[in-house]
Amino acid sequence: MTKGHVLVTGGAGFIGSHLVDYLLGRGFEVTVLDCLLDQVHGDAEKDAQGWPVYLNKKAKRIKGNILDDGVFEASLTGITHLAHLAASVGVGQSMTNIVEYTRNNTMAAAVILEVLSRMPLDADGNHPIKRMVVASSMSIYGEGEYEIEGTGDSTAPELRSHEQLAERSWELFTGDGAKLIPIPTTEKKLLQPASIYAVNKRDHEEMFLSVGRALNIPTSALRLFNAYGSRQALSNPYTGVAAIFISRLLNDQPPMVFEDGEQKRDFVHVMDVANAFATILESDKRVWDVFNVGSGKSITVNDIARTLARLLQKNIAPDILQKYRVGDIRHCFADISKIRDVFGVTPQRDFEEGMAELIEWVKTAKKPVDKTAVSMAELSSSKLMV
Ligand SMILES: NC(=O)c1ccc[n+]([C@@H]2O[C@H](COP(=O)([O-])OP(=O)(O)OC[C@H]3O[C@@H](n4cnc5c(N)ncnc54)[C@H](O)[C@@H]3O)[C@@H](O)[C@H]2O)c1
Repeated sequence: MTKGHVLVTGGAGFIGSHLVDYLLGRGFEVTVLDCLLDQVHGDAEKDAQGWPVYLNKKAKRIKGNILDDGVFEASLTGITHLAHLAASVGVGQSMTNIVEYTRNNTMAAAVILEVLSRMPLDADGNHPIKRMVVASSMSIYGEGEYEIEGTGDSTAPELRSHEQLAERSWELFTGDGAKLIPIPTTEKKLLQPASIYAVNKRDHEEMFLSVGRALNIPTSALRLFNAYGSRQALSNPYTGVAAIFISRLLNDQPPMVFEDGEQKRDFVHVMDVANAFATILESDKRVWDVFNVGSGKSITVNDIARTLARLLQKNIAPDILQKYRVGDIRHCFADISKIRDVFGVTPQRDFEEGMAELIEWVKTAKKPVDKTAVSMAELSSSKLMV
């Protein structure tokens, strides 16, 4: 007897494929629905049907696009749980491909929820889907949470102005000139999405929570911080910074760092992300809520570049550009106490060990094509990088 049958949308992707492994390992049946976007899977090693070779053979596979008529509905046979991870994931790219992003992230959520809202209930009046967990993102916060120096008061500042950034003044201050000190960001922080991707993710999170409540399906939206690990698309210039830096270093090029490189982020291992999804899918708690999924620790972008160079044994310092991207935030790292208190989820992976593991995987992966120059040229010509 299985624990249930999970449909993982985006299950051939970076996080989704690890989640598939976790769920199968915990006794769930799994079906993957994925359209195998070329930008994500173009360079990956594939089987004869076009699926990435790392995808677990025990999972049932459906190649299809959620946006295509009838595809999502047809994937639901026997499904008891939904993990929705399919998305277009490039923050910078979302600012120029606005229609495509909004269609794939927000409209796809609408398609899923409309199908669920029309499904017949069982004899006891219950929805056939027992639980949903969806991938949201830390990007919906905009700037992280800060404390006004010397006061102990927390604050949710707006993005830095163009004028401030043009002066290459990177840190944040109050209107009175008091310095703001970054502190762990809680789920209560005001949402101030600063990109189309982030607006899409906020909307999709709220859509799932509202329809989940109406249909009485316990629903959690996981606000993922920066996930890293094996199977990350190395040649996709629009995704994770760790993968982009490794791809640069392997090509003997310095990682390119925006601003002064001292911006703080939260890097969480993909296994810890998969564990958070799987634990909540397995839980019987009737919860409709949002949860941060991070490591709970902060690290600067310079430190990531230096750690990766050291682990790759390359004597290459980061190229500190002193340029900025419109909409970039300065600091954001997670307060992870809520998911720990409600579901008992805590990260297990150490950053250095995780990065060393990522590098080992990269060495066995196909040699990545460094597309950083192309994406930089695109950003520059669209006036999104100054
Ligand atoms: N990677 C991170 O650090 C991070 C951080 C915050 C949030 N997230 C979220 O986590 C989720 C997974 O991210 P990832 O890094 O694994 O991305 P990914 O690009 O590796 O995987 C996404 C998968 O979804 C598939 N897909 C996209 N649109 C689809 C559609 N319309 N129909 C069917 N399949 C479709 C793609 O082919 C791909 O396999 C996304 O929702 C993303 O927004 C990721």
